[in-house]
Amino acid sequence: MNKEKLVIFDTTLRDGEQSPGASMTLDEKVRIAKMLEKLRVDVIEAGFAIASQGDFESVKAVAETVRDSTICSLARAVRPDIERAAEALKNANSGRIHTFIATSPIHMKYKLQMAPEQVLEQAVTAVKMARNLAEDVEFSLEDGSRTEPDFMYRIIEAVIDAGARTINIPDTVGYGTPEEYGAIFRNVMNNVANADKAILSTHCHNDLGLAVANSLAAVMNGVRQVECTINGLGERAGNAALEEIVMAVNTRKDFYPLASAIDTTFIVPTSRLVATVTGFPVQPNKAIVGANAFAHESGIHQDGVLKHRETYEIMKAEDVGWKANKLVLGKHSGRAAVRSRFEELGVTFESPEALNDAFQRFKALADKKHEIFDEDLQALVSDAKAES
Ligand code: KIV
Ligand code: ZN
Repeated sequence: MNKEKLVIFDTTLRDGEQSPGASMTLDEKVRIAKMLEKLRVDVIEAGFAIASQGDFESVKAVAETVRDSTICSLARAVRPDIERAAEALKNANSGRIHTFIATSPIHMKYKLQMAPEQVLEQAVTAVKMARNLAEDVEFSLEDGSRTEPDFMYRIIEAVIDAGARTINIPDTVGYGTPEEYGAIFRNVMNNVANADKAILSTHCHNDLGLAVANSLAAVMNGVRQVECTINGLGERAGNAALEEIVMAVNTRKDFYPLASAIDTTFIVPTSRLVATVTGFPVQPNKAIVGANAFAHESGIHQDGVLKHRETYEIMKAEDVGWKANKLVLGKHSGRAAVRSRFEELGVTFESPEALNDAFQRFKALADKKHEIFDEDLQALVSDAKAES
């Protein structure tokens, strides 16, 4: 069955860079952008052109280097931001202006100090302005998940009429739950007359650890674009992790209605590059890209994997860019995994007693050491020979 495309919008270079301490140089951003292009990301948000001269130059450099992905710049819903974004994107093969304004009662009252009608008017003016400078315009309702529904419907209808092609409803403060956040999109489709004229988009933050779950709930409720970052980098607790969303949709094709065009074999190399450039290490137990994501230590699991990988693996390590899965030898490992590793090292046992002896020596060492490496096994064999 040919599924509709899930548009992957990567904002590592913009929202990801808003992670305190994760700022990147122009060259680093271009390197990451080229990797995102290889990954076949559909849209790369390269920065916030008005934020600084450096951000402007970076968006411009990425727009001039990357040819296959759409390059996007963020812009508040005001003329100087929109013009700066358009200037930075002018040499892009395909450019997008992403303009936004906050729409929740708390943001409008305290941050913007504007009445809802003024916000609506400014949003429409900004989208029209952006459409005069670019074909492809995205509009975001900042703090969308805490926006009052009727106001949300009115503003969405108006900005689509003004020319916005993509409508993003962010969970800016990571407050939503999957059921609630998914329902927002279902309700938009049922209550906004022209909703089918635009692509609905999700953008989730991870304050409650729900960013990926919320994004996927949105996908189940009519969203066709997911905004995310490599390694879940981003403001505060981060954004939804690209690798987790892509692999959830890929692995559960039976469940999700859309398919991404991502070349998943570049996931791990991209994750490594982002970790190296930003100095933000990836935790070992991080899904997909953590060092332990495809490593098995317990004897029962290792035995299962040696008999049939799918007993304990729902994805192939190689499909996301690892060389292979890993059977880590430690104190929980069983005889099957130990023997298999010995065999890989060219060591065979002439009798069950000899294997048993090696296994006992292995267990004694594993009690003293976190992980047993090939050199440790070779040393065990030499010791046994020397003693016999
Ligand atoms: O989290 C957010 O609301 C944003 C918008 C600017 C899209 O990053
Ligand atoms: Zn954000």
